[in-house]
Amino acid sequence: MIRASTAAPIADGRTPLERLKAQPFILGLFLPTQSGGWTPSTAPRDTSWHYDYNAGLTVRADELGFDLAFALAQWLGKGGYGGTTKYREQGIDPLITTAGLAPLTRNIVLISTVHVLYGWHPLHLAKMGATIDHMSNGRWGLNVVTGYVPTEAPMFGLNHPEHDLRYVIAAEFLQAMEALWRSDANLTFDGAYYKMKDAFVTPKPRHGRPIIVNAGSSDAGLDFAARYSDLLFITSPAGALFEDAVSSLPDFNRHIKEKGAAVGKKVTTIINPHIICRDTEKEAQDVFRAIAAQEDAEAVDNLMQSFTKGDNKSFRGHKRDQRIVGGNIQMIGTPEQIVDGMLRLKAAGCDGVQINFFDFEPDLEYFGTRVLPLMVQAGLRH
Ligand SMILES: Cc1cc2nc3c(=O)[nH]c(=O)nc-3n(C[C@H](O)[C@H](O)[C@H](O)COP(=O)(O)O)c2cc1C
Repeated sequence: MIRASTAAPIADGRTPLERLKAQPFILGLFLPTQSGGWTPSTAPRDTSWHYDYNAGLTVRADELGFDLAFALAQWLGKGGYGGTTKYREQGIDPLITTAGLAPLTRNIVLISTVHVLYGWHPLHLAKMGATIDHMSNGRWGLNVVTGYVPTEAPMFGLNHPEHDLRYVIAAEFLQAMEALWRSDANLTFDGAYYKMKDAFVTPKPRHGRPIIVNAGSSDAGLDFAARYSDLLFITSPAGALFEDAVSSLPDFNRHIKEKGAAVGKKVTTIINPHIICRDTEKEAQDVFRAIAAQEDAEAVDNLMQSFTKGDNKSFRGHKRDQRIVGGNIQMIGTPEQIVDGMLRLKAAGCDGVQINFFDFEPDLEYFGTRVLPLMVQAGLRH
C-alpha cells in the first residue's frame, strides 16, 4: 500500500531551490526505477523498479529530510543490457513517475530526467513541467539529458547528432521553454531547431522557472551547465575507487567553478556515490565482495561498452569491474567512515551527493538512522 509522507510541509518563505542550496551538503536519492538499479549482480535483494517501491523510497527520503529524488532515463532494446538478469530491461518513465510522486511528498525536490532531443517540442515539456511544478507546489526540476548512447535516437527515427551539436540543440530547447515559462503574452519563436507561433503556457511555474540540472564532463557539457543549470551532476575523472576519485575531484571542481565564474554564476556540483554502510568495516567490505562475486558478467560488459562506445566524455576513467557494484564513486564502510568520506568530498569541491544503494529499502533506513545524524553532527546537514 502506498502511503503519503508524514513530513510537515516547510513554508519558510524560501523556494525549494534556495532551501536546498542553503544546506552545507546537498543530499539526493537516486531511485532504482530500472530493473537491477545500479548493480548488475545476482546477489539477493528486494530492490525493485516498480512504481510502488520507488514511491515508498521517495516518501521515506522526504521524511528523512533528503533534498532531492531523481531517476535515470534510458532507452534500451529487448533484454536491456542482457545477462541472466536482463539488466535494466524494465524501467518506468521518469517524467510520469515524478508526477506520481508529487502528491505523496511534501518537501523533497522531484527531478525528471528527459531526453529533450528525442522528438519533444519545448511547448510540450513547458506545459507538462509546469503541471508537475503545480502538482508539487514548486518542487519540480528537469534533468536535461542529450543522449550519449548512439542506438537511442534511431529508436525515434532520428539521427544521433554529434557531441557538441547535441548541446547546441538542447540549449535552444531550453531557451524556448524558459521563454514560454516567462512570457505573459503569446510567444513567437524562430530558432534554428524549434519554431513557435503564438504559443502560450499556463499555469506558470511557482518560482519563476523550475530547477534545471544536467550532467557532463566535456567542455560543451560544462558550458551548458554554467549557462543554464542550477545543479551539475559530475562524475569522478579517475574512476569509482574512492581514494582515486577524491584526489582527482579538486581540480575538476575548480575547472567547473571557473567556467561558472566566467559567466557570473556559481555552479553547484553533486556526485553519485554507491554507499554500502554497516556497523563494522569488515561487514561492509564483505557485502561489497559478495555483490561483486555474483556479477552478471554479460550485463556488466554491455553496460561498460555503453560508456566506452559513444562520444561521451564522462565515465572515461571508470573500469569495467567498478560497474558491477556501480555508482560514480563507491563509499564502503562504517557510518563514521561514510561521513568522513562526505567531508572529504566537500573539501574536494563537491556541493553534495546523489546516493544509491544495493538493497534500497533497508539500506536507506540504515542510512537515515545511523549516517544522517552523524552528518548533522559533522555540520554537513542542517
Ligand atoms: C550521474 C549521472 C547521471 C546521468 N543520467 C543519465 C540518464 O538518466 N540518461 C542519459 O541518457 N544520460 C545520463 N547521463 C549522461 C549525461 O547526460 C551525459 O550524456 C554524459 O555525462 C556525457 O556528457 P559529456 O560528454 O558532456 O561528458 C548521466 C550522467 C551522470 C554523470
